[in-house]
Amino acid sequence: MSAKASARHLPLVGQGPVGEAHHRTKGLLRVTMACNERCPFCNVPVEDYPRPTPPESELEAELELFLASGERTLTLSGGEPTLYPKRVLMLTARARSRGVPFVELQTNAVLVDRELAVALAEAGLTSAFVSLLSDVPELHDELAGLEGAFARCLAGIDALLDAGVAVTLNPVIATQTQERVADYVEFVARRLPRVRVISLSAVQPHGRAAHGTSLLPDYAVLGEQVKLARARAAEHDILLINPYCGLPLCVGWHDDPSRSVEAIEAASRRELGGLAAHGIDNQGNKAHGPPCGGCALRTRCGGAWHAYWTVRGGSGLAAVEPRLEPWQQGADRAPAQRIVGAAGGLGPAELAAVRGATEPTVWLVTERLGEGDGSRLWSAGGTDLLLLGEAPALLDDAVTRAELRSIARDNHRREPQSKLRVVVGLRRLGSFRHAHQLLTEHRGDVDAVRLLVQGDQRLERFAAAVRASLGLDVTAATRAESALV
Ligand SMILES: C[S@@+](CC[C@H](N)C(=O)[O-])C[C@H]1O[C@@H](n2cnc3c(N)ncnc32)[C@H](O)[C@@H]1O
Ligand code: SF4
Repeated sequence: MSAKASARHLPLVGQGPVGEAHHRTKGLLRVTMACNERCPFCNVPVEDYPRPTPPESELEAELELFLASGERTLTLSGGEPTLYPKRVLMLTARARSRGVPFVELQTNAVLVDRELAVALAEAGLTSAFVSLLSDVPELHDELAGLEGAFARCLAGIDALLDAGVAVTLNPVIATQTQERVADYVEFVARRLPRVRVISLSAVQPHGRAAHGTSLLPDYAVLGEQVKLARARAAEHDILLINPYCGLPLCVGWHDDPSRSVEAIEAASRRELGGLAAHGIDNQGNKAHGPPCGGCALRTRCGGAWHAYWTVRGGSGLAAVEPRLEPWQQGADRAPAQRIVGAAGGLGPAELAAVRGATEPTVWLVTERLGEGDGSRLWSAGGTDLLLLGEAPALLDDAVTRAELRSIARDNHRREPQSKLRVVVGLRRLGSFRHAHQLLTEHRGDVDAVRLLVQGDQRLERFAAAVRASLGLDVTAATRAESALV
C-alpha cells in the first residue's frame, strides 16, 4: 500500500463511540470485542459490550455489506481479532478473493506466532497495525495491562515481517510515555528496521480512558516531542503519520499538514468543491477552543477532544499559524492564508481566484455583497470575508445587508471549522449613532467589527460600550493600523 493510500485510510483506526456507529461504511469489522489485554486507555473496552463476540454468520453478513459498499480497505479489528484466528483468515481470504486490494489487521500481536503470520500472509493480509505502546518493556506492559506483553508483541511483529506482511506501529501516546516519543522512533529504527510507518496516535479520552483522564497526555510536552520525533524519523526514512486519533495541527504538525489525516481529508474534500468544500469531519467528538479563533488552520484541524479542553485546559494549544485580518500588517505574507480582493463585488474572476487557492484560510475582501454571494464564496472554498464599508452607506445598502443575514442563517447549520467567518471593517462611522444602529441590527450576523478610522479616546470608549452592550467583538484599530487600510 502506498504511504498516501495508507494515510487516507487511517481515520478508520481506533475511532470512538461516534465512529463506531459508522464502522460498516468505513470498512471496519470488529471480529470480537473480547481481548487478551486490559489496556487502561482502551476506547472500546469489552465491558461495554453485553455480547462480546458475534456469531460467525453475522460477521459474514457484515462482510457482504462491506463488499457491496465498494470500499477498498477492510480493517479487521476488535477487541483482539487474533483470539479468533480462523475467522480472521476466513474474512481476509474472502475479501481478497472478492477483489478488495487492502486488508489490514489491527492487533496487539501477542498471539501472533510464525505459523499464524504465514497463514495470514497466505490468506492475503496486506498489512498489520500493531499497538506497540512503548520502547520501554515495563511501560508497554503497564499500558497493555498484561505482564510480558512487550516481548511477545515484538516477537509477533518479527513473525509478521518475516512472513512478508507490512507493519505499521501505533504507540497511543499516554502521560507515561509522552516524553519518550523521539526515543520510540529511535528504538523502532534500531530494533525494527523493516518497519517504515508509525501512526503517532495519542490517548483519546473515550472508553476506559474517559474514566482515567490522567492518561491523557499533555500537548505542551508533546509539541516539542513530536518535532524531535519527526526529525529522528526523517533521519531514518520512517514515515510518521498524524492520524484522526493523533494530535491537533499546532501540536508539532503545523508545518506539514500533508502527514495529518484530518488535513489531508479536508484538503481533498475541498478539491471536490460543492457542499464538501470545507472538509473537516470531526465526528462530533472534537471541538475548537479559544486559540482556534485566531488560527489560520481551523479549516484543516478539528481541534482537540472535548475532554482535553476541560481536563487539561487546552494546554499546549496555540494559534501557531495566526489568522491575520487583511488590514493587519503582514496579512498578505502569512503562509497559511490567501487574500482575494473584490472591490467591485464577487465576480467570476474573484471566484476563480478563491477556487484556485490552496491555503487553509482564504479571505475575500469586498465592499458590497450581491444575493447568493455568501454561498457562492463558501462553495468555492472561501473561509473568511472582510466587508469593508462606511456605516451610513451600509445602512442604505439593503442587498448587502440581506446577504449578511443569509450568510448568518447558512452558518447556523455549519460546524465551527466550516463557517464562513465575517468581519466588518468600518472606514467611516458617519456618527456613533449610525455605527451603533448598524451594529445593533447585525450583531448576530458578524463575528467581529473593526473600526478602521483615525480616532481618539472617544472611539475607544465607543468600542468598549458596544462590546459591553451588544456582546460583539469590536475593536478600534490603532492609528498606524488604520493608516494601512
Ligand atoms: C481497540 S484496538 C483493537 C485492536 C487490538 N486489540 C490492538 O490493541 O491493537 C484498535 C486500535 O485502537 C487503538 N486505541 C485503543 N484505545 C485507544 C484510545 N483511547 N486512543 C487512541 N487509540 C486507541 C489501539 O491501540 C488499536 O490500534
Ligand atoms: S484549529 Fe485550534 S487546535 Fe487546530 S491548529 Fe489551530 S489552534 Fe491548534
